[in-house]
Amino acid sequence: MKIICATDYADMSRKAANILSAQVIMKPNCVLGLATGGTPVGTYRQLIEWYNKGDVDFSEVTTVNLDEYRGILKDNPQSYWYFMHKNFFDFVNIAPERVHVPDGANLDADAACKEYDAVIHQVGGIDLQLLGIGPDGHIGFNEPNAAFELGTHCVDLTESTIEANTRFFEKKEDVPHQAYTMGIKSIMQARKVLMVANGANKADIVKTAFFGPVTPEVPASILQMHPDFTLVLDAEAAAKL
Ligand code: GLP
Repeated sequence: MKIICATDYADMSRKAANILSAQVIMKPNCVLGLATGGTPVGTYRQLIEWYNKGDVDFSEVTTVNLDEYRGILKDNPQSYWYFMHKNFFDFVNIAPERVHVPDGANLDADAACKEYDAVIHQVGGIDLQLLGIGPDGHIGFNEPNAAFELGTHCVDLTESTIEANTRFFEKKEDVPHQAYTMGIKSIMQARKVLMVANGANKADIVKTAFFGPVTPEVPASILQMHPDFTLVLDAEAAAKL
């Protein structure tokens, strides 16, 4: 595990974007695993800026996103499909046919998850997986006590996650209660993993997840065992280390 301490959110975003763009420069046809949430937005913004300057080219890149709400259409502004387009894909030269997000519109959970595992397999696995961390240590939507050996699966969101995601919806009742997520196994099989975390509200979970025991109670803790895991923190998130 490598920890990179950044000064603030902009610095964290720039450092994470540097690692992602290095991956794309070294392997232009790489597979990037991408994440939603507020934390990576600055990273995407920085990548867009460098793309506009001609410093990074996404024309051969394939992406697989971590998760999607179940029972939501792509054009719903709350879908992760929509989020990724409005925060990143619409502003760079990623080929639409190489963009993958679990199919939230498919209510047949088994079929949707199997199909997504097949996509990850077909593209040759993930070269670099970007992650945020939930306040309870969830990664993707792998909630506490998720089995470490699962591929893509359907999860019931916990109260804490519904609460944390309410800010993106008009009201709490609108937050879906289920999601399709890559499993811990899918994440651990990525060749490299990069996590971004910022803000004082992440300081406790960062300490627990990466300086405490590896346990399914804190899903992100398994990343301590990943052979190529980089954690980029701002000063507030690193304050308790
Ligand atoms: C959601 C996403 C996670 C993300 C988490 C934290 O639950 N499914 O992938 O890491 O939110 O979000 P934020 O970065 O806004 O704190």
